[in-house]
Amino acid sequence: MTPLLETITYYQQRVNNNLSQYIKVENPTSSKLNEAMAYGALLGGKRIRPFLVYAVGEMLGSSKLTLDPLACAIESVHAYSLIHDDLPAMDDDALRRGQKTCHIQFDEAAAILAGDALQTLAFEIISQPIDGLSANTQLKMVNILAKASGEAGMCGGQSLDLEAENKQVGLSSLEKIHAAKTGALIEAAVTLGALSNEQLPPQHLLLLQQFSSSIGLAFQVQDDILDIISDTETLGKPQGSDIAHQKSTYPALLGLEQAIAKATSLCEEALHALTQLPYNTQLLESFALYIIKRDR
Ligand code: IPE
Ligand code: IPE
Ligand code: MG
Ligand code: MG
Ligand code: MG
Repeated sequence: MTPLLETITYYQQRVNNNLSQYIKVENPTSSKLNEAMAYGALLGGKRIRPFLVYAVGEMLGSSKLTLDPLACAIESVHAYSLIHDDLPAMDDDALRRGQKTCHIQFDEAAAILAGDALQTLAFEIISQPIDGLSANTQLKMVNILAKASGEAGMCGGQSLDLEAENKQVGLSSLEKIHAAKTGALIEAAVTLGALSNEQLPPQHLLLLQQFSSSIGLAFQVQDDILDIISDTETLGKPQGSDIAHQKSTYPALLGLEQAIAKATSLCEEALHALTQLPYNTQLLESFALYIIKRDR
């Protein structure tokens, strides 16, 4: 295993353990809802947003114990976004992370509520006192996560994504969709990791944000590419779903080759931002490359 994959695996296990403690409570109000939440959040997933929280935070000297709740909060929002993304009213997909989507395993109401409850769980986690962070920093973090999740971020992007079905949108509109629906949460992951160091110089935060906006967009461009070139078993979700729903994607707009070139140039932008930072950015460099090389 490469050092990157080892680190990814370590952080995956860490976030899984912590998230499972938050979700698997002893006496849930509704066992059905609780099971649907656990199903949607705990079974699989690459955990790349938690990875970014840990990798950036540890690079800046923060402790894992400080970063644990931040990683759980962002993954909880992400899990909610996927459960809702798969609903019949949205992408209407039946497979996620190699198993039935939440609304098929349970029912639509349970999937909607599981998403809702995972979203509020995220804010419960990130607003509880966190070791090593001042209340002021935590308030900033709550604000960042809320903004990235809502109308200005993921939800806004999801709305634009659905509005862009069955039509061809231009490059700048597509970039806006992707930056909002996917980029915003990836940027938030990096920003949460960065803010865990309360002494971080503003210019370093800015460079990390440049890094994150490039990899955030690259991540969704690669997701679009994989919908074409990968297969359902590897992806754990239905290959060809974008084409079936006539989604606006980079390969649909530019062709596969240009979409790959776009992902590569975004990765180069991300790497350039890292070269200007006075920290050991090796792990983040290899992660930027992984984003455009991954096959799932
Ligand atoms: C899928 O996200 C949806 C996008 C935003 C592209 P991931 O590819 O991170 O999904 P999991 O969490 O690994 O299943
Ligand atoms: C989803 O984008 C982005 C989210 C905010 C969940 P996609 O619809 O392309 O994600 P997949 O391909 O279903 O994972
Ligand atoms: Mg979608
Ligand atoms: Mg989808
Ligand atoms: Mg996709």
